[in-house]
Amino acid sequence: MSVLDILERMEYGPAPEVRSQADAWLDAHKSTFRLFIGGKWRAAKSGTSFATHNPADGKKLATLSQAGQADVNAAVKAARSAQAQWVALGSHGRARYLYALARLVQKHSRLLAVLETLDNGKTVRETRDIDVPLVARHFYHHAGWAQLLAAEFPGQQPVGVVGQVIPWNFPLLMLAWKIAPALAAGNTVVLKPAEYTSLTALLFAEICVEAGLPGGVVNIVTGDGCTGAMIVEHKDIDKIAFTGSTEVGRKIRQATAGSGKKLSLELGGKSPFIVFEDADLDSAVEGVVDAIWFNQGQVCCAGSRLLVQEGIADRMLQKLRARMAKLRVGNPLDKTMDMGAIVDPVQKKRISELVEVGLAEGAEIWQSAEALPEQGCFYPPTLLTGVEASATVAREEIFGPVLVSMTFRTPPEAVALANNTSYGLAASIWSENINLALDVAPRIKAGVVWINCTNQFDAAVGFGGYRDSGFGREGGREGMYEYLKPVAQFSGSISRPAAKPATATAGSPRDLPAIDRTAKLYIGGKQARPDGGYSLAVYGPAGDLLGQVGAGNRKDIRNAVEAARKATAWSGATTHNRAQVIYYIAENLAARAGEFRGRIRDMTGASVRTAAREVEAAVARLFSYGAWADKFDGAVHSPPLRGVTLAMNEPLGVIGLACPDEVPLLGLVSLLAPAIAMGNRVVVIPSPVYPLAATDFYQVLETSDVPAGVVNIVTGGRDDLMKTLAEHDEVNAIWYEGSAEGSEMIERASARDLKQTWVNYGHARNWHDTTQAEGREFLRRATQVKNIWIPYGE
Ligand code: NAI
Repeated sequence: MSVLDILERMEYGPAPEVRSQADAWLDAHKSTFRLFIGGKWRAAKSGTSFATHNPADGKKLATLSQAGQADVNAAVKAARSAQAQWVALGSHGRARYLYALARLVQKHSRLLAVLETLDNGKTVRETRDIDVPLVARHFYHHAGWAQLLAAEFPGQQPVGVVGQVIPWNFPLLMLAWKIAPALAAGNTVVLKPAEYTSLTALLFAEICVEAGLPGGVVNIVTGDGCTGAMIVEHKDIDKIAFTGSTEVGRKIRQATAGSGKKLSLELGGKSPFIVFEDADLDSAVEGVVDAIWFNQGQVCCAGSRLLVQEGIADRMLQKLRARMAKLRVGNPLDKTMDMGAIVDPVQKKRISELVEVGLAEGAEIWQSAEALPEQGCFYPPTLLTGVEASATVAREEIFGPVLVSMTFRTPPEAVALANNTSYGLAASIWSENINLALDVAPRIKAGVVWINCTNQFDAAVGFGGYRDSGFGREGGREGMYEYLKPVAQFSGSISRPAAKPATATAGSPRDLPAIDRTAKLYIGGKQARPDGGYSLAVYGPAGDLLGQVGAGNRKDIRNAVEAARKATAWSGATTHNRAQVIYYIAENLAARAGEFRGRIRDMTGASVRTAAREVEAAVARLFSYGAWADKFDGAVHSPPLRGVTLAMNEPLGVIGLACPDEVPLLGLVSLLAPAIAMGNRVVVIPSPVYPLAATDFYQVLETSDVPAGVVNIVTGGRDDLMKTLAEHDEVNAIWYEGSAEGSEMIERASARDLKQTWVNYGHARNWHDTTQAEGREFLRRATQVKNIWIPYGE
């Protein structure tokens, strides 16, 4: 062949990465691995093992140990006994170790990259240029958080021992995302890699030894989902961090319900990739390549739903098909490949089956004519068009190189289509009109939004989603909080108010309404009779009947949620406006202080001083959140791209609040005020023992310019009403102050749609203590961070 021929055809020659170092490493271990516990390699007591394969050629790479219960127990014990010393090392000591880990990851970067490619099947181009550099970056960044811990996270302490279960799609990167923040915060960990891809985690264990990391700080146990479940259910673990499928995430939510374990879940997605008609189409096509064919589409935030504006759809798809025809699929160790192998035949089967379902439901398929390797686990880049929004392939995560395409006409239609999913992880928006892009970004239900880019990650920028995509964030400041807990949180167990006698005699209440008055519910800015037509008697401590409140039922909760759902303008109101309303509530409460003091005294039997102190504290608390409303800001990050990332604190939406009994007015205000200050709308279940403070309070709301539907109050049985709220699709989060059993019920009931929950497990707060009952912890719980990536430059 002449040089001219070569230049004319421009065909790729093979450019294989050498694998000899990785093979030498496997040989040195006789391709057999034990468990890494307490800084030592230990044979699994279970005595069982399993094989791991190279998906690109199907050949066995190594034999791994399957950790059983005794092994998991040993790993947790090692982590527990190492934790106090790890904390005692101090911020700088831990920072030094994390820095050493970062340096060693760089030192072994090529071996890590090649081993990852062999074990997972993703191209070495990606492991070398994306996965491993991001791993090092993560350890460097968190060495920094370790160093700054005391200054930047005052009042916080490590959670303790953390159990971490990770998936196979970014084996080493997910390990770094889990281990780096956990260690920086002063925790020790037991980590289980995915059964298909454990090798780089085992190499990382060696790196820990090389760094001189104290034994027990990092423990790596290999095994399948059964080992994962043992970690999740272990009694001596304080937090579970999981990345994987939504199905397993749900199981973990249920398994940990009521246990008091902190939980973060990073689950699946069906992320929209929205192309407006003024987008730079060639860039957008390259964006699609990175969105869905990066890592064979086995990416939780893959842009798997292409939404194109109608006028440009044909042109966009034509360009896309031309680009797809040029994508190279093959030996992942070849540096010229665009796509490598699917992780395992099981996954390939799942992909094929879902595509078959898509075709049966009417989709049209387009795949490039490029031949796939004859051996190994490969699947071609695939485009499905003519897909209905309701089709299975438009709703379910395929987790493979399959793009489904749909069209829209207007920006509002794009937003509606983008949000037509149970997931909420990521989105990508393509337009040359920054006004349009920045207008659309906040409206997309996703934790991460990329404008004119996609699949960007950085250790300083939080990542995570909501609804079926899970909760919690990894990376950045918000990611650190997942591994910390407030020093001052609870003061002990709740002493329940004495049970009230069932029969009543009329007392002589001070400045109270007549005893036959029934306080109604408060829904959509109006007083509403309870749907069931029943009411509940409220007695004073001496058994005197103080009044009646409505007995709310499921229908009342549904009405209240509907009212809250519609009050979206509150979430879009300016922070100044929200602050003004909260100050106004404080003003009106202060004006009626005498009345509330009397009410508290009559209900609880408190002294004049105690009652006065509670009312005064409630007014002060409202002032605090009026102050916070325009000060709990987001941040602007400078990730390594030419551009910025806006970290915006967004309201969660509709929050269901169960108020404590201890301080009926202050408890109500302490939950309600931070929630609405951050733009949420709430459905409040007041203390069932002392509900009259809440029903009086809506008269304060009525005179304070609180828009209809922002605060809704339903009286009745706390746990019954809260269960309905926890199961309601349109409720985004639950805050629960009540019993240990009620807390477990809430966590269990919320598993179906993976609501964010914040429960007290039956512990009491001191509501007068501002370190426990006010401030940033409440504001953080009332918001979630959305990171919007905005590159700039021509
Ligand atoms: P998976 O969720 O079963 O596995 C993830 C990790 O969880 C693995 O380490 C596994 O051993 C462990 N695990 C499994 N069952 C467990 C349990 N009951 N308790 C604790 N740990 C458990 O995911 P799988 O089966 O590998 O893939 C199935 C589908 O899940 C994929 O097709 C994809 O749709 C989705 N997936 C999503 C990921 C993401 O990053 N969002 C990652 C991996 C899979």
